[in-house]
Amino acid sequence: MSHAAGDARRVLDRCDELATVTSIAHGLERVHLSPEHARVNVMAAAWMAEAGLRTWQDQAGNQWGRLEGREPGLPALVLGSHLDTVTDAGRYDGMLGVVSAIEVARRLAPKAAELPFALEVVAFSDEEGTRFSTALMGSFAVAGNWHQDWWDRADRHGTTVREAAKNFGLDPERVHEAARTPEELVGYLELHIEQGPYLEAADRPLGVVTSIAGARRFTGKVVGEARHAGGTPYARRKDALVGASEIVLAVERLAVELHGIATVGRLQAYPGGVNVVPGLVEFSLDVRAEHDEDRDALVDRIAQYGRDFCAGRGLGFELVEAHNAAGVYCDADLMDSVVAGIAATGDAEPLRIWSRAGHDAMAIAAITPVAMIFVRCEDGISHAPGEMVRLEDVAAGLDAFEAMVLDLARRRS
Ligand code: HGY
Ligand code: MN
Ligand code: MN
Repeated sequence: MSHAAGDARRVLDRCDELATVTSIAHGLERVHLSPEHARVNVMAAAWMAEAGLRTWQDQAGNQWGRLEGREPGLPALVLGSHLDTVTDAGRYDGMLGVVSAIEVARRLAPKAAELPFALEVVAFSDEEGTRFSTALMGSFAVAGNWHQDWWDRADRHGTTVREAAKNFGLDPERVHEAARTPEELVGYLELHIEQGPYLEAADRPLGVVTSIAGARRFTGKVVGEARHAGGTPYARRKDALVGASEIVLAVERLAVELHGIATVGRLQAYPGGVNVVPGLVEFSLDVRAEHDEDRDALVDRIAQYGRDFCAGRGLGFELVEAHNAAGVYCDADLMDSVVAGIAATGDAEPLRIWSRAGHDAMAIAAITPVAMIFVRCEDGISHAPGEMVRLEDVAAGLDAFEAMVLDLARRRS
């Protein structure tokens, strides 16, 4: 097996090892500030130390490693991604980027004394927002944009972020210590699976990310009246689930019409009796588009439709925003290094693609230039156990990632 294929095998084996750290019996779920989060931070720290990095965990629960450059204390180029997952997740979303970053740092450690910057690796937590219905809490803390109202958000068991942080061994009063300043940084590079079908359709193993869509997430309610499922004539029903169903169909119709992307991922009818007309429905709504203004226009159209439709049926309707991340354009200068890195693997004109998925790079863009490289994933499957990558694509990704860093070093020397 070649040097690059051997490294790629190690990366995939480590993703398999991380996938064994899960909170559910059948499948993968690893959420923020959980015992599983603590365990994978220890694993990542050990791999970072083995690669020659100095390691620490910050006060937001992110795991870091650092290689000094040609002199101590230089601003750092940060390579990273996240180790938390959605529920019933795939094993490469986030994890491939963290393990690949560690692998690239291992390769470059012998040359670190020639680098014009320090090289850091970060494993963020809470990119997905699975536990507390937010997202990017780890990387927002690093960007100095911690939201104080996050402390009181509770998970489905009623545990607040503050309580979970303390149980994890963090001091909530010190979360600001996780913040990094622009002066400390050169930039941020993230390798990630595409989580869509476009690289595969173009028969490309790698792609250059041009921008990252910013998602807005809501919790919605349709309020009707719980009544007897037999004795209540249709003319007297205020069926919250019929209303919500019409809204879910309208979400897809309006998203297609306005060239956006909107998804209802969770919906719960109450009281939930088989012989009771639902009096309440709660649902999630995730809205994104290539440009924030198009996304916001879609949000407004969906909200307007919900209000009008529900009013016509005597139903209540509300949409409460739970998360709002601005879309981000990748830095042109760093993108040149991504292009150079991919060209080094033989693809002279890499495909440029905007990311429909959100990433930690969006939060980090507030304090330093960011860029991303995408790796093809089979059939575009992600956020599901069928997530899969090819060994040769991971090998190409590692070579491109290493070449990106060296290209940036050359241009900054
Ligand atoms: O939702 C997203 O786009 C990302 O995977 N968290
Ligand atoms: Mn994800
Ligand atoms: Mn991800």
